[in-house]
Amino acid sequence: MSNINYYDIITFGCQMNEYDSGVMAGFCEALGYFPAERQGEANLILINTCCVREKAENKVYGLLGRLRKLKQANPDLIIGVGGCMPQQKNIAREIKSRFPYVNFIFGPHTLFQLPQLIKRANENKETMIAIQENPDEITEDKPVKQARIVCAWVPITFGCNNFCTYCIVPYVRGQERSRRPEAILHEVRQLVASGYKEVTLLGQNVNSYGKDLPVEIDFADLISQVCRIQELIRLRFLTSHPRDFHQKLIEEIARQPKVCEHIHLPVQAGSNKILTKMNRGYSREEYLALIKNLRQAIPQAAITTDLIVGFPGETTGDFLQTLDLIEKVRFTNAFTFVYSNRSGTPAAKMPDQVPAEVKKERIQALIKIQNEITIAENQAETGKIHQVLGEGKNEKNPSLLAGRTGTNKLVFFPARKDLTGELVQVKITAATLTHLAGIAQAALV
Ligand code: SAH
Ligand code: SF4
Ligand code: F3S
Repeated sequence: MSNINYYDIITFGCQMNEYDSGVMAGFCEALGYFPAERQGEANLILINTCCVREKAENKVYGLLGRLRKLKQANPDLIIGVGGCMPQQKNIAREIKSRFPYVNFIFGPHTLFQLPQLIKRANENKETMIAIQENPDEITEDKPVKQARIVCAWVPITFGCNNFCTYCIVPYVRGQERSRRPEAILHEVRQLVASGYKEVTLLGQNVNSYGKDLPVEIDFADLISQVCRIQELIRLRFLTSHPRDFHQKLIEEIARQPKVCEHIHLPVQAGSNKILTKMNRGYSREEYLALIKNLRQAIPQAAITTDLIVGFPGETTGDFLQTLDLIEKVRFTNAFTFVYSNRSGTPAAKMPDQVPAEVKKERIQALIKIQNEITIAENQAETGKIHQVLGEGKNEKNPSLLAGRTGTNKLVFFPARKDLTGELVQVKITAATLTHLAGIAQAALV
């Protein structure tokens, strides 16, 4: 038997989890593990879980069930479960009792115990639970393996203080903590020095950055500092909250050529009654006014959103207001979700929960209208020239290069030379619901 160790990390959930999986990969490689290339090769499997909706949790339970056989075939296989799911009350114990072959369970606050847990898993046969209720101070200088080669993710805040009434994130990720600006700038400098061209600043609510820091700094100031890093070509950020999107930030985004003209601005619902019940902190009118200001300052901006249907108490009239809002704003894209009851959140106990069939009808109607808007907006790009950052070959057709416009639209274009990492002028020739096709005009860098 070979004595090379291989790891595999299966990630569910948002970009924060993707980034944390990169930290897990960094830890595994520091311990001498190599990434598994074939299925069944790994002798260490880590599952990074999400619990934002029931569907995400069910996928994890299904996967854990399937791992039973692998463990029976190879008793030395180490299985670890991390991420948001076991951070919920009683869930770690439930996982331990239902899947006793799991070696250890940890959460976002105990990510840094991973190397110890892996080492101890060899001696300790019983499931170890390493869950901590509150986060420690932010640990810097961790080994991170970025998931992609041209574009990197850099978290700037952890946790969330917004407590939208449907959402589990503040309970599992803890209160909002901002990273020190020097640590962020250091990480971005290191990334560009190693060849990354684009950085996305990450947080549940990036535009509230800095509120908890002893120094006087806000998100607009941070953007301005990051943009001064010369070799950085593009800067993106995710996710913005409408409540904290002030005029100063709009002006900073408009002023900085490196900041991409894409703003993901979840609205969640179109009726004031539902927005209030959700504790979103803005009205439909305030949201529409913000969109107007954004488009005035950045006319080419692509605005995308998240929407939930079937929040408790949502009537047909409320839902029609969501449809009306998406037709007014014309988002370039939207992530649409059916409300999922999360135990421990205030909305879980609200009266008038919406029946499953009604939620299903509403999501289908919503997707239909949004798809029509997305496709029309994509087709309107035909004939225009965009700056596209080459991100790599199209997996299905390697004669095509894949890249993104500043507005975050995926573009495929033929390229004889590998233009990965280069900014290319591309004329758009066709569009579908999911991507654009184009022809390269000239490489810009
Ligand atoms: N912090 C970000 C993203 C949070 S999770 C934000 O506030 O926008 C991503 C999306 O999942 C949310 O925007 C919301 O649309 C959706 N979501 C969160 N909790 C949900 C729930 N209980 N049911 C359905 N969708 C939910
Ligand atoms: Fe959840 Fe709201 Fe925080 Fe987003 S802002 S993570 S939806 S509580
Ligand atoms: Fe899911 Fe946790 Fe992200 S619950 S959406 S992985 S913060």
